[in-house]
Amino acid sequence: MTAPRDFLIAPSILSADFARLGEEVDNVLAAGADVVHFDVMDNHYVPNLTIGPMVCEALRKHGVTAPIDAHLMVKPVDRLIGDFIDAGATYVTFHPEASEHVDRSLQLIRDGGCKAGLVFNPATPLSYLDYVMDKVDMILLMSVNPGFGGQSFIPATLDKLRQARARIDASGFDIRLEVDGGVKVDNIAEIARAGADTFVAGSAVFGARRAGDPHHYDSVMDKFRAELAALS
Ligand code: DX5
Ligand code: ZN
Repeated sequence: MTAPRDFLIAPSILSADFARLGEEVDNVLAAGADVVHFDVMDNHYVPNLTIGPMVCEALRKHGVTAPIDAHLMVKPVDRLIGDFIDAGATYVTFHPEASEHVDRSLQLIRDGGCKAGLVFNPATPLSYLDYVMDKVDMILLMSVNPGFGGQSFIPATLDKLRQARARIDASGFDIRLEVDGGVKVDNIAEIARAGADTFVAGSAVFGARRAGDPHHYDSVMDKFRAELAALS
Protein backbone atom coordinates (compact mmCIF):
# COMPACT_ATOMS: atom_id res chain seq x y z
CA MET A 1 0.00 0.00 0.00
CA THR A 2 1.50 3.26 -1.07
CA ALA A 3 -0.75 5.92 0.43
CA PRO A 4 -3.51 6.04 3.01
CA ARG A 5 -6.79 5.19 1.38
CA ASP A 6 -10.27 6.42 2.08
CA PHE A 7 -12.53 3.52 2.82
CA LEU A 8 -16.09 3.38 1.53
CA ILE A 9 -18.77 1.09 2.92
CA ALA A 10 -21.45 0.05 0.45
CA PRO A 11 -24.40 -1.85 1.92
CA SER A 12 -26.01 -4.16 -0.64
CA ILE A 13 -29.75 -3.57 -0.71
CA LEU A 14 -30.18 -7.16 -1.89
CA SER A 15 -30.65 -7.98 1.80
CA ALA A 16 -32.89 -4.98 2.56
CA ASP A 17 -36.64 -5.17 3.19
CA PHE A 18 -37.88 -4.43 -0.33
CA ALA A 19 -41.34 -3.54 0.95
CA ARG A 20 -39.74 -0.54 2.74
CA LEU A 21 -36.79 0.10 0.47
CA GLY A 22 -36.65 3.91 0.62
CA GLU A 23 -36.75 3.88 4.40
CA GLU A 24 -34.13 1.12 4.55
CA VAL A 25 -31.76 3.11 2.35
CA ASP A 26 -32.38 6.28 4.39
CA ASN A 27 -31.62 4.41 7.62
CA VAL A 28 -28.45 2.77 6.38
CA LEU A 29 -27.12 6.08 5.02
CA ALA A 30 -27.99 7.78 8.31
CA ALA A 31 -25.96 5.06 10.03
CA GLY A 32 -22.90 6.11 8.03
CA ALA A 33 -22.96 4.13 4.79
CA ASP A 34 -21.15 5.86 1.94
CA VAL A 35 -22.54 4.14 -1.14
CA VAL A 36 -25.72 2.23 -2.02
CA HIS A 37 -24.78 -1.07 -3.67
CA PHE A 38 -27.54 -2.03 -6.11
CA ASP A 39 -27.50 -5.65 -7.33
CA VAL A 40 -29.15 -6.25 -10.69
CA MET A 41 -29.76 -9.92 -11.54
CA ASP A 42 -31.48 -11.25 -14.67
CA ASN A 43 -32.10 -14.98 -14.08
CA HIS A 44 -29.86 -15.62 -17.10
CA TYR A 45 -26.33 -14.48 -16.36
CA VAL A 46 -26.96 -15.34 -12.71
CA PRO A 47 -29.61 -17.65 -11.25
CA ASN A 48 -31.69 -14.97 -9.52
CA LEU A 49 -33.94 -12.07 -10.46
CA THR A 50 -33.89 -8.74 -8.64
CA ILE A 51 -34.44 -5.08 -9.43
CA GLY A 52 -33.88 -2.82 -12.40
CA PRO A 53 -33.51 0.82 -13.43
CA MET A 54 -37.03 1.81 -12.36
CA VAL A 55 -36.13 1.06 -8.76
CA CYS A 56 -32.89 3.03 -9.07
CA GLU A 57 -34.86 5.98 -10.41
CA ALA A 58 -37.40 5.57 -7.60
CA LEU A 59 -34.63 5.85 -5.01
CA ARG A 60 -33.43 9.08 -6.63
CA LYS A 61 -37.00 10.43 -6.61
CA HIS A 62 -37.29 9.40 -2.97
CA GLY A 63 -34.40 11.79 -2.30
CA VAL A 64 -31.35 9.53 -2.15
CA THR A 65 -28.32 11.65 -3.10
CA ALA A 66 -25.58 9.20 -2.08
CA PRO A 67 -23.67 7.41 -4.84
CA ILE A 68 -25.55 4.43 -6.26
CA ASP A 69 -23.29 1.56 -7.31
CA ALA A 70 -25.19 -0.44 -9.94
CA HIS A 71 -23.69 -3.94 -10.12
CA LEU A 72 -25.05 -5.40 -13.34
CA MET A 73 -25.22 -9.19 -13.35
CA VAL A 74 -27.03 -9.28 -16.69
CA LYS A 75 -26.31 -10.49 -20.20
CA PRO A 76 -26.33 -8.74 -22.61
CA VAL A 77 -25.37 -5.62 -20.74
CA ASP A 78 -25.18 -2.60 -23.07
CA ARG A 79 -28.86 -1.72 -23.22
CA LEU A 80 -29.15 -1.76 -19.42
CA ILE A 81 -26.06 0.42 -19.13
CA GLY A 82 -27.99 3.18 -20.89
CA ASP A 83 -31.04 2.60 -18.70
CA PHE A 84 -28.99 2.87 -15.50
CA ILE A 85 -27.28 6.04 -16.71
CA ASP A 86 -30.74 7.54 -17.25
CA ALA A 87 -31.93 6.22 -13.89
CA GLY A 88 -29.29 8.15 -11.95
CA ALA A 89 -26.64 5.52 -11.18
CA THR A 90 -23.23 6.81 -10.12
CA TYR A 91 -21.12 3.72 -10.74
CA VAL A 92 -22.08 1.13 -13.35
CA THR A 93 -20.13 -2.11 -13.15
CA PHE A 94 -20.48 -5.23 -15.29
CA HIS A 95 -18.93 -8.67 -15.73
CA PRO A 96 -16.63 -8.93 -18.77
CA GLU A 97 -18.09 -12.32 -19.69
CA ALA A 98 -21.47 -10.61 -20.10
CA SER A 99 -20.28 -8.17 -22.76
CA GLU A 100 -19.23 -9.03 -26.32
CA HIS A 101 -17.23 -5.78 -26.42
CA VAL A 102 -15.79 -4.89 -23.04
CA ASP A 103 -14.03 -1.74 -24.22
CA ARG A 104 -17.21 -0.44 -25.85
CA SER A 105 -19.31 -1.14 -22.76
CA LEU A 106 -16.81 0.71 -20.55
CA GLN A 107 -16.89 3.68 -22.90
CA LEU A 108 -20.68 3.69 -22.95
CA ILE A 109 -20.67 4.10 -19.17
CA ARG A 110 -18.18 6.95 -19.14
CA ASP A 111 -19.79 8.66 -22.12
CA GLY A 112 -23.00 8.67 -20.09
CA GLY A 113 -21.27 10.54 -17.26
CA CYS A 114 -21.03 7.56 -14.88
CA LYS A 115 -18.03 5.85 -13.35
CA ALA A 116 -17.20 2.55 -15.03
CA GLY A 117 -16.22 -0.71 -13.41
CA LEU A 118 -15.34 -4.29 -14.28
CA VAL A 119 -16.42 -7.15 -12.03
CA PHE A 120 -14.42 -10.35 -11.60
CA ASN A 121 -16.03 -13.61 -10.55
CA PRO A 122 -13.89 -15.82 -8.29
CA ALA A 123 -12.55 -17.76 -11.30
CA THR A 124 -12.31 -14.84 -13.74
CA PRO A 125 -8.72 -13.76 -14.46
CA LEU A 126 -7.56 -10.18 -13.92
CA SER A 127 -6.07 -10.25 -17.43
CA TYR A 128 -9.33 -8.71 -18.67
CA LEU A 129 -7.81 -5.50 -17.32
CA ASP A 130 -4.72 -5.66 -19.52
CA TYR A 131 -5.80 -3.12 -22.13
CA VAL A 132 -8.45 -1.13 -20.31
CA MET A 133 -6.86 0.21 -17.13
CA ASP A 134 -7.31 3.74 -18.46
CA LYS A 135 -11.03 3.14 -18.89
CA VAL A 136 -12.01 1.84 -15.45
CA ASP A 137 -12.85 3.78 -12.30
CA MET A 138 -13.62 0.69 -10.24
CA ILE A 139 -12.41 -2.91 -10.08
CA LEU A 140 -14.85 -5.14 -8.22
CA LEU A 141 -13.68 -8.55 -7.05
CA MET A 142 -16.43 -11.00 -6.24
CA SER A 143 -15.56 -12.92 -3.10
CA VAL A 144 -18.54 -15.23 -3.64
CA ASN A 145 -20.15 -16.54 -6.81
CA PRO A 146 -22.71 -13.95 -7.88
CA GLY A 147 -26.42 -14.50 -7.45
CA PHE A 148 -27.19 -14.57 -3.75
CA GLY A 149 -26.51 -12.78 -0.50
CA GLY A 150 -25.40 -14.54 2.66
CA GLN A 151 -22.60 -16.70 1.19
CA SER A 152 -19.18 -17.22 2.76
CA PHE A 153 -16.13 -15.20 1.74
CA ILE A 154 -13.82 -17.19 -0.57
CA PRO A 155 -10.31 -16.86 0.96
CA ALA A 156 -8.47 -16.93 -2.41
CA THR A 157 -9.92 -13.45 -2.97
CA LEU A 158 -7.28 -12.04 -0.60
CA ASP A 159 -4.43 -12.95 -2.94
CA LYS A 160 -6.41 -11.69 -5.92
CA LEU A 161 -6.98 -8.39 -4.10
CA ARG A 162 -3.23 -8.05 -3.61
CA GLN A 163 -2.72 -8.62 -7.33
CA ALA A 164 -5.41 -6.11 -8.27
CA ARG A 165 -3.95 -3.55 -5.84
CA ALA A 166 -0.53 -4.01 -7.45
CA ARG A 167 -2.03 -3.44 -10.90
CA ILE A 168 -3.77 -0.26 -9.71
CA ASP A 169 -0.68 1.13 -8.01
CA ALA A 170 1.47 0.35 -11.07
CA SER A 171 -1.02 2.02 -13.39
CA GLY A 172 -1.04 5.35 -11.58
CA PHE A 173 -4.76 5.70 -12.29
CA ASP A 174 -7.34 6.62 -9.67
CA ILE A 175 -9.24 3.32 -9.48
CA ARG A 176 -11.26 2.04 -6.56
CA LEU A 177 -10.87 -1.61 -5.49
CA GLU A 178 -14.16 -3.02 -4.29
CA VAL A 179 -14.92 -6.40 -2.77
CA ASP A 180 -18.35 -8.03 -2.76
CA GLY A 181 -19.54 -11.08 -0.86
CA GLY A 182 -19.21 -12.41 2.65
CA VAL A 183 -17.76 -9.20 4.10
CA LYS A 184 -18.32 -9.19 7.87
CA VAL A 185 -17.07 -7.28 10.91
CA ASP A 186 -14.58 -10.06 11.65
CA ASN A 187 -12.92 -10.12 8.21
CA ILE A 188 -13.13 -6.53 6.92
CA ALA A 189 -9.72 -5.59 8.38
CA GLU A 190 -7.97 -8.51 6.68
CA ILE A 191 -9.72 -7.64 3.40
CA ALA A 192 -8.61 -4.01 3.71
CA ARG A 193 -5.04 -5.11 4.41
CA ALA A 194 -5.11 -7.09 1.15
CA GLY A 195 -5.84 -3.86 -0.70
CA ALA A 196 -9.59 -3.27 -0.88
CA ASP A 197 -10.91 0.23 -0.26
CA THR A 198 -14.62 -0.23 -0.97
CA PHE A 199 -16.61 -2.86 0.91
CA VAL A 200 -19.97 -4.26 -0.12
CA ALA A 201 -21.86 -5.84 2.75
CA GLY A 202 -25.41 -7.11 2.47
CA SER A 203 -26.40 -9.66 5.07
CA ALA A 204 -23.90 -8.28 7.61
CA VAL A 205 -25.63 -4.89 7.51
CA PHE A 206 -29.28 -5.66 6.91
CA GLY A 207 -29.16 -8.71 9.17
CA ALA A 208 -28.96 -6.18 12.02
CA ARG A 209 -32.55 -5.05 11.34
CA ARG A 210 -34.84 -4.87 14.39
CA ALA A 211 -38.53 -4.12 14.07
CA GLY A 212 -39.40 -0.56 15.05
CA ASP A 213 -35.81 0.60 15.58
CA PRO A 214 -34.65 3.12 12.95
CA HIS A 215 -31.11 3.03 14.37
CA HIS A 216 -30.60 -0.71 14.03
CA TYR A 217 -27.80 -0.27 11.48
CA ASP A 218 -25.69 2.08 13.60
CA SER A 219 -23.79 -0.53 15.59
CA VAL A 220 -22.70 -2.67 12.63
CA MET A 221 -21.59 0.41 10.69
CA ASP A 222 -19.71 1.63 13.78
CA LYS A 223 -18.00 -1.77 14.10
CA PHE A 224 -16.93 -1.69 10.44
CA ARG A 225 -15.50 1.81 10.94
CA ALA A 226 -13.68 0.76 14.11
CA GLU A 227 -12.08 -2.24 12.37
CA LEU A 228 -10.92 -0.01 9.49
CA ALA A 229 -9.71 2.77 11.81
CA ALA A 230 -7.57 0.26 13.73
CA LEU A 231 -5.53 -0.59 10.62
CA SER A 232 -2.00 0.70 10.87
C1 DX5 B 1 -24.04 -11.27 -4.78
C2 DX5 B 1 -24.17 -9.77 -4.70
C3 DX5 B 1 -23.76 -9.18 -3.42
C4 DX5 B 1 -24.53 -9.64 -2.21
C5 DX5 B 1 -23.57 -9.63 -1.06
O1 DX5 B 1 -24.19 -11.67 -6.11
O2 DX5 B 1 -23.41 -9.16 -5.73
O3 DX5 B 1 -23.73 -7.76 -3.49
O4 DX5 B 1 -25.62 -8.84 -1.89
O5 DX5 B 1 -24.23 -10.14 0.05
P1 DX5 B 1 -23.45 -10.59 1.37
O6 DX5 B 1 -22.78 -9.37 1.91
O7 DX5 B 1 -24.57 -11.09 2.22
O8 DX5 B 1 -22.49 -11.65 0.97
ZN1 ZN C 1 -23.07 -6.95 -5.73
